[in-house]
Amino acid sequence: MKIIIINGPNLNMLGQREPSIYGNKTFEEFFSELQEKYPDVELDYYQSNIEGEIINKIQETGFSYDGIILNAAAYTHTSIGIGDAIKAVQRPVIEVHISNVYSREKFRHKSYIAPNAKGVIAGFGMSSYELALLSFIL
Ligand code: DQA
Repeated sequence: MKIIIINGPNLNMLGQREPSIYGNKTFEEFFSELQEKYPDVELDYYQSNIEGEIINKIQETGFSYDGIILNAAAYTHTSIGIGDAIKAVQRPVIEVHISNVYSREKFRHKSYIAPNAKGVIAGFGMSSYELALLSFIL
């Protein structure tokens, strides 16, 4: 099984960024642990701060991978383009968030990803990604 995790803006700063919300771990550390824990899954990772690059990656992987785990970060709440890209590809996309966006500011309650996603997982810290991965495996 081939799965890609795509992370959006500012998620390259995990470990340093607002640790009380997002924790102390870098994504690279977490990703290595995930790869070790699930050796049978071909797991790739891509991060970009640029909306169009995220759209390009969804288009590139959305016909050949088995699934996409997407944390579009702030673009979740603003990007019609990323929402449309998910509609345009064949493979399932799971929306994930580290924090519980529904217990935060109102502008974080809107998602352009969710209506086109297979499901949404939010609020479990980095484990949100693992839960999304498990949903593909189980
Ligand atoms: C986030 C939540 C978003 O509202 C925020 O803009 C992020 C991270 C999360 O993983 O909790 O950058 O997607």
